[in-house]
Amino acid sequence: MSEPLRLGIAGLGTVGSGVVKIVEKHAEMLERRAGRPITISAVSARTRDKDRGFDVNAYAWEDDPVVLARRDDVDVLVELMGGSDGPAKAATEAAIAAGKDVVTANKAMLAINGQALAEAAEANDRVIRFEAAVAGGIPVVKALTEGLAGNEITRVMGVMNGTCNYILTRMEHAGLTYDEVFEEAAKLGYLEADPTLDVGGIDAGHKLALLAAVAFGTKVDFDGIKLEGIERISIEDIEQAADMGYRIKLLGVARLTGEGLEQRMTPCLVPADSPIGQLENATNMVVLEGDAVGQIVLRGAGAGEGPTASAVMSDVIDLARGARVHTFGQSAAGLVAVPAVQSVTPAPYYLRMELLDEPGALAKIAAALGNSGISIDRMRQYGHTATTAPVLIVTHKTTRPELDDALDAMAATGVLASEPVSIRIEDV
Ligand code: HSE
Repeated sequence: MSEPLRLGIAGLGTVGSGVVKIVEKHAEMLERRAGRPITISAVSARTRDKDRGFDVNAYAWEDDPVVLARRDDVDVLVELMGGSDGPAKAATEAAIAAGKDVVTANKAMLAINGQALAEAAEANDRVIRFEAAVAGGIPVVKALTEGLAGNEITRVMGVMNGTCNYILTRMEHAGLTYDEVFEEAAKLGYLEADPTLDVGGIDAGHKLALLAAVAFGTKVDFDGIKLEGIERISIEDIEQAADMGYRIKLLGVARLTGEGLEQRMTPCLVPADSPIGQLENATNMVVLEGDAVGQIVLRGAGAGEGPTASAVMSDVIDLARGARVHTFGQSAAGLVAVPAVQSVTPAPYYLRMELLDEPGALAKIAAALGNSGISIDRMRQYGHTATTAPVLIVTHKTTRPELDDALDAMAATGVLASEPVSIRIEDV
């Protein structure tokens, strides 16, 4: 019989427990597929005695994940603790130094420290695999590094935070405010311990940074992402957007332009009848575009025990088979550092503002746009109050700097009764 691939699992939360259950439940099937048994030698977690749906005493126990990573009977560290630094990073470094490969679901660790960790892995002839870190059960890293490896990737897009998509779609369907749905999401246990990671777009930004590195062969650049969360999205904007045939999504877009790497994780309007526009609840979607293949749409669960453990296992099985793709799909030493650029790609914008209902107000707003070189595509005035008039404008394509000039000029007109809302309309 072939030698088993022996796992050391650090972190026995939802995902870690899911991995143990798959290894136990599908032992024979995994062996047939991998060509060798996949076993668990040892586990580590913050608390030992806890009902996890399996017998933790079946495996050796380590309090310290670093000690677990160095064990002689561990071939692969499965790091499922989370956190950009601390024990997760220490255990990953220890595993690499001890000559072990690492499988992780830790997007924060790789988005912040991925370049250094990948270089360390490469120097030790090891790999770090992270399918589970991006969009949970969707095999997007594999799609990029294997299925689409013959393509120049032209654009990567994704709705990659289920909590945000749940909040936005629930606001729309139930007519509830952001604060009301945020409370619901908290009660349902959808939010990360630090909710800003979700609603501030940080978690999704971590995932986009990893995808961009794999897609474009660039160094991971989380700081280069234009990041904006969903906290300021109002039910008013969701309803007005819907009325014009759009939905609002927290959308990640990455593209390598002639001027640099453009990465955005921001609320966007997308056509309601597009695949991304039709995405409901906590489901994730990743859209990949390649010069040969055209557009590929991947949709599925972005979190949860089964989906995330499924992604972890795909990496484990690859390692058991001897498949050794570099951490970011190519040598870490060869990943290129490119400048971060924003707003290189023009787009139409949705603008909503409240004007003083007085002669010439609309003309001043139209002039501010025109003077900044921005052309109006559609405009609507609706639902007057006694003194103000809400106005919606959809512009033709423009850049963010031109729009910011126009917004400054609008502010100077004295006819705005509220600060305008401006949201990019993405061509998906
Ligand atoms: N909080 C994340 C989400 C879980 O809502 O998608 C996976 O990162």
